[in-house]
Amino acid sequence: MRFCRSYAKLNCIVARGVLKKDCFGNLFSQLEQRNHRSVEYMDGFVKNASSNQLPDWVRKAWHGDMILLLGASGYIGRTVASELRRRGHCFIPLTRRAFDYTRFDYLFDYLRTMRPIFLVNAASYEISLGGTVAEGEREKMMAANAILPQMIARVCLMTKTSWGHLSSGSVYCGAKVMGNGKPAVRRRLGDSETLELFDKHPEKFQGFTELDEPNFSFRYPSCNFYSGTKALAEEAIQDIGQSYIWRLRLPFNEREESCNWLWQMHRQAEVTDGINSCSHLEDCVRACLDLWEMRAPFGTYNVTNPGAITMGRAAREMRRVLHTPVRVRTGGEETAPSGCILDCGKLLRAGVKLRPVEEAVEDCLDRLRVSARGIRSVEAAPKIFPAGAL
Ligand SMILES: NC(=O)c1ccc[n+]([C@@H]2O[C@H](COP(=O)([O-])OP(=O)(O)OC[C@H]3O[C@@H](n4cnc5c(N)ncnc54)[C@H](OP(=O)(O)O)[C@@H]3O)[C@@H](O)[C@H]2O)c1
Repeated sequence: MRFCRSYAKLNCIVARGVLKKDCFGNLFSQLEQRNHRSVEYMDGFVKNASSNQLPDWVRKAWHGDMILLLGASGYIGRTVASELRRRGHCFIPLTRRAFDYTRFDYLFDYLRTMRPIFLVNAASYEISLGGTVAEGEREKMMAANAILPQMIARVCLMTKTSWGHLSSGSVYCGAKVMGNGKPAVRRRLGDSETLELFDKHPEKFQGFTELDEPNFSFRYPSCNFYSGTKALAEEAIQDIGQSYIWRLRLPFNEREESCNWLWQMHRQAEVTDGINSCSHLEDCVRACLDLWEMRAPFGTYNVTNPGAITMGRAAREMRRVLHTPVRVRTGGEETAPSGCILDCGKLLRAGVKLRPVEEAVEDCLDRLRVSARGIRSVEAAPKIFPAGAL
């Protein structure tokens, strides 16, 4: 009976042309993989099943204990999806190709009907930082990074859904540096004097807290367009409904992916030095979900591994561990930001545990070394042909 009601709900959305095949494709393909043959399909939707034949996690999804993940195909979205799966949460990963969640009416209907217990927004649009941004690209960035989160906030408010928004630490540049007994904001962290001071007295450098106003936003003349849109979104959503704003910065891990700055560095001949807070991707995605699971107060959280690291230090470690001949250049008077330090004290005080950034970087480099050795040994292995093949 319960199943029939849920099925009716689904049919109702399908009939209105809102829900496309792939939205539930994931849910049902997982079912299929688990050999629950009691489920029949009709254009990708369940046609015939009985509630007591379905596993608990599917029943939960239909009865409300479901999490909705927007931007699930992205770099961070994919990691959120794996972590949700690892924790055994039931979730629906949405992608615009299957369901255009950027449309207010679609998303509103979806949330009203499906009643997720939580929503994660990992959708975003970014083109390479620093360079000139074409006009069409600006519009896209504004729509995805600033307007979409506002719309999601309104929809969540109206449907009483709590949610988490993935944002970026790039809404800040620089750090607060102690001098004459009080901290002063230094926007550039790439010159040799600052790097030397950090080397000798890291304790003199303080990160921006969630109480500090973003200083790399449209309110300041030198910000880039992407950071400007991220800061706009934060400003617009922070007082609407119940949400977390999770600020990640420079995600990294041991995987060979283009968004991983450690991997980028490994493939570059030269990097510009600077001081940065960074987020070990899996650590930090776990931290975001921990906040929600432990019912920490809603609000903004800097989600980075504690501490900060210079690109020079990372490059030196890389040379030592991976023998990568990457050179380090001191930034000087460049216009691009040369780093930023975030204070993640609020996150730690909420009870989330994270290892220091240097430890996480060293661990990833070790793992990269092991995987590189694996690749080399496979390449170097003598070819063995089965008997009779020659
Ligand atoms: N990657 C980083 O280095 C980094 C660093 C710090 C913070 N973050 C933050 O983490 C979040 C996710 O970043 P990401 O790197 O995972 O992003 P991503 O891989 O570039 O894309 C995320 C997803 O957003 C959706 N999307 C793309 N263009 C869109 C558009 N024009 N309108 C609406 N949705 C669009 C796409 O999902 P579908 O097409 O499947 O819907 C895409 O897979 C962002 O808020 C970002 O600011 C990222």
